[in-house]
Amino acid sequence: MASIGIVGTGFVADYYMRSLATLPEVTVAGAWDIDLDRLHAFRKYWRVPAAASLDDLIGRRPDLILNLTNPGSHYAVSLACLEAGLPVYSEKPLATRLDDARHLHRVATERGVMLASAPCSALGESAQIVWKALRERVIGTPRLVYAEIDDGFLIRAPHETWRSESGAPWPVQDELAVGCALQHAGYYLTWLIAMFGSVTRVAAASAEVLGLTLADGAAAAPTYACASLFFESGVVARLTCSVVAPHDHSLRIFGDEGILEVGECWSNDAPVRLRRRHVVRRRLIDSPLTRRLRVGKPTHAKVGRKGATAMNFALGPQEMLAAKAEGRASRLDADLALHLTEVALAIQSAGDGTGHQVIASRAGAVAPMPWAME
Ligand SMILES: NC(=O)c1ccc[n+]([C@@H]2O[C@H](COP(=O)([O-])OP(=O)(O)OC[C@H]3O[C@@H](n4cnc5c(N)ncnc54)[C@H](O)[C@@H]3O)[C@@H](O)[C@H]2O)c1
Repeated sequence: MASIGIVGTGFVADYYMRSLATLPEVTVAGAWDIDLDRLHAFRKYWRVPAAASLDDLIGRRPDLILNLTNPGSHYAVSLACLEAGLPVYSEKPLATRLDDARHLHRVATERGVMLASAPCSALGESAQIVWKALRERVIGTPRLVYAEIDDGFLIRAPHETWRSESGAPWPVQDELAVGCALQHAGYYLTWLIAMFGSVTRVAAASAEVLGLTLADGAAAAPTYACASLFFESGVVARLTCSVVAPHDHSLRIFGDEGILEVGECWSNDAPVRLRRRHVVRRRLIDSPLTRRLRVGKPTHAKVGRKGATAMNFALGPQEMLAAKAEGRASRLDADLALHLTEVALAIQSAGDGTGHQVIASRAGAVAPMPWAME
């Protein structure tokens, strides 16, 4: 048996609880939230023990802390847990400032305590199928990637009606304060870093195009960002994030021998399709027909669709606990978490005149999941 401690029992914590239900060998040692009403509703709904404070939760010595607080609290909560010697899986971003993310990375590395950050969907079925197809050179040499994470015209969506299973409201103010690139770029960035290595340079632009003022009077973070990402392997990717353009979560990888396509990054079993090119008479045609690629082996537990996602949020915590139990390195580690955060911050904070930014951090090689091996 392994135990986890949960800090932050808001909207996303319910997704985690649904996903953790796929892991009968994992128990919840305690949950803590500074909003006591929210903590009470969560404890009652999921029948888990509530802690009296963060120190109380740390004192229970769970095998892993899930930091599911708002991004502005990630640094302080993760630091307290790491300094107490507890491994941390943090929701993204690792921190909202690069210096803070670097400090967490340093503390974790110096103390030999595991640290990782969401998202974990790179360990999921769709991502692993794409990656396997690339390793098998199904599209020959990959040359260029287009990844879109557009979420529709968010401010006109009925977000005030969105509630999690145990009743937490969807935190629209925080989402707009943190920004769509910092919140969402990671959903494809993690896949691309695993497949193509670290990002060495980012040429990006970002802007707040909706003219929003938040409830506390502060300006909203960029509601649009677009980046060209230059990977160590030589691949170049264009990544777009917005809460303005119509919903589009498509990924296309263009290679010499064809195109790999996925329609959704928030679903672990979104179909992965291969599209070939043909020359017909004097024209080059991308085939209107695609072939669905499959892994052909049992993969991982799936959770049904909840709200906008059909993702198993426990894949990351499960990987960390398995790595700890087996005495091996985790596929999701502190280097990857820092690198992901540095790149996402570079995209989001680019503004309209940054030019290209050199990325200092590097992620180590990520191993594919055993069920996706050739
Ligand atoms: N909302 C989503 O759909 C979604 C999806 C995936 C990931 N995430 C990520 O999950 C994280 C949390 O988002 P959310 O939507 O659950 O937000 P939320 O506001 O619904 O919940 C966050 C909770 O953390 C608590 N909290 C804040 N600071 C704390 C502290 N110092 N100690 C203890 N509790 C504290 C808040 O009181 C709140 O209940 C964010 O990093 C977000 O990027 C959210």
